[in-house]
Amino acid sequence: MKLTIFAATGGIGRQLLEQAVAAGHDVTAVARNPRNLSATPARVVAADLATADAAALTPAVEGADAVLSALGARTKADTGVAAHGTRVIAEAMRASGVRRVIVVSAAPIGTVPSPGRPHPPRHDPGDGFVIRYLGDPLIKRVLRAHYADLAQMEDVLRDSDLDWTVVRPPRLTGKPVTGRYRTAYGQNIRGGAFVSRADVAHYMLRAVGQPETYRQTVGIANPAARLRGMASYWGV
Ligand SMILES: NC(=O)c1ccc[n+]([C@@H]2O[C@H](COP(=O)([O-])OP(=O)(O)OC[C@H]3O[C@@H](n4cnc5c(N)ncnc54)[C@H](OP(=O)(O)O)[C@@H]3O)[C@@H](O)[C@H]2O)c1
Repeated sequence: MKLTIFAATGGIGRQLLEQAVAAGHDVTAVARNPRNLSATPARVVAADLATADAAALTPAVEGADAVLSALGARTKADTGVAAHGTRVIAEAMRASGVRRVIVVSAAPIGTVPSPGRPHPPRHDPGDGFVIRYLGDPLIKRVLRAHYADLAQMEDVLRDSDLDWTVVRPPRLTGKPVTGRYRTAYGQNIRGGAFVSRADVAHYMLRAVGQPETYRQTVGIANPAARLRGMASYWGV
């Protein structure tokens, strides 16, 4: 398949690039600093998504079967890039007749208000007591601007007619790919506090060809350590 990967220099982006190339896909990697890409056979396009317009991105998405984006603000100065960048990616896709896009958001965003979704549910059905009443309020205070950016990125896709999927991971880890993770449509994973960047990328690549994931938000998490222990005890 022809895939275009935005933010290919990030933690998830590098995994997307590596796994997509290893699977034999024809990949275009988009990065603001292509020098930060590891050696790759992918076609490379430079673009700063804080300032790029759709015309600048069209050559990167033209002819793609799917677009994958792991774009997110690295620093406070980058805040707003997820919404702006995704808006111009969507415009470039529309101009090129490309429909499929998968992006990374975050687990708390289902309950973050945004202009397009001013009254989200107060709690995510996948979140337990500790996350609902302790973890979520705290992290939302610390990452208020970052989450507002991600919520507006989700608005951009919800308002579009693209075949989008929004993946909402909890805390990301640098563990290797396992292919063993749980997913759920429209909610977080109960007891799922972590997922590796490698497994998020694995899922995104798998979801490309799954029409049942179109216009869905997807919670994802690796099994909790206790459950992994039980699973190995049972030999699965
Ligand atoms: N950290 C967590 O535990 C966590 C949990 C849930 C969700 N998330 C979300 O998941 C996203 C992806 O995670 P990650 O670990 O892969 O993030 P990351 O390593 O910080 O990668 C962010 C990517 O966005 C790119 N980017 C930022 N501003 C840009 C701009 N103006 N133009 C072009 N590219 C730009 C970065 O490019 P450069 O390499 O050039 O900086 C980098 O490739 C995060 O950004 C966050 O929104 C994170």
